[in-house]
Amino acid sequence: MRRPPQCVGELLKTHVAYLKAKAHTFPLNDCLILLSNITGKSKEFLLAHPEFQLREDEINRFSAMIRRLRQGEPLAYLVGEKEFWGHLFICSPDTLIPRPETELLVELSIKHLDKRPPDLILDLGTGTGAVGISLLAHWKESKAILTDIDLSALLVARENCMRILGNVHRASFICCDWFNAFKKGFRADLITANPPYVSRRQMNLLDKSVREHEPERALFSRDGTGYSEIETILGNAHRHLAKGGLLLCEIGIGQAKRLLSFARSLDVYRTIDVVKDLSGIDRVIAASL
Ligand SMILES: C[S@@+](CC[C@H](N)C(=O)[O-])C[C@H]1O[C@@H](n2cnc3c(N)ncnc32)[C@H](O)[C@@H]1O
Repeated sequence: MRRPPQCVGELLKTHVAYLKAKAHTFPLNDCLILLSNITGKSKEFLLAHPEFQLREDEINRFSAMIRRLRQGEPLAYLVGEKEFWGHLFICSPDTLIPRPETELLVELSIKHLDKRPPDLILDLGTGTGAVGISLLAHWKESKAILTDIDLSALLVARENCMRILGNVHRASFICCDWFNAFKKGFRADLITANPPYVSRRQMNLLDKSVREHEPERALFSRDGTGYSEIETILGNAHRHLAKGGLLLCEIGIGQAKRLLSFARSLDVYRTIDVVKDLSGIDRVIAASL
């Protein structure tokens, strides 16, 4: 049976109430993002035009997406993109969805290096390319090497580079295990990383939608403690940083104390600091040569 055409106002009323009843966190925002993705209209337009009619096929797509959202599929995978540092990054189930707290890596890079932008950036475990590409968009003369152990993620990062920068002239993409593709003597001015740092013990504390949909390799450290990948990065970055270079590595809640003492014990960095995010959580370890 043909469904009568429905307008944005009616759809929002029904589906926001439905999601609210199911204790969904951001019902209005998420409905608007889905409707915007389906109709190609901005969220502002949709809010200002509740009388705007959707076609039958659009309504069917919207209902199907709401169902998948309710079953725990992340919104960013449903619409295929997520905003980070003012850019829209393509996301796929092969990539972690960029998180707002990771913007601190970009913010600190710019804060420390804007007066003398880096010639070469190395973004380790780049995923969608969120950090490295945001920095390339900010510094028009810099080059970056974006790495990931997952080739599918790297292909998404390449697509994002084309989408956001219009070309890949200033970026290289390397599929490797942290530093293992880099010979002695290779040095970057800035190394950024948001490695997997969740421990197996914390698995059940993760949101169901994260646990069931985001790639395991992007979440959990290989040794299960949450520390092994960060320690590998801290333990090797000094060999690949130029003199005066900076390493910025995201860390997990409660990891700062052990990582600070690990980094100090290496006795290779000139400065080592921990920086808090907007929620007051120790979020980034910054080490310079
Ligand atoms: C937490 S995600 C971060 C993604 C992206 N940088 C971001 O902040 O949105 C970690 C990324 O590291 C990659 N990764 C995991 N183990 C790795 C390894 N041994 N070497 C290189 N990349 C690795 C994962 O595939 C994933 O893309």
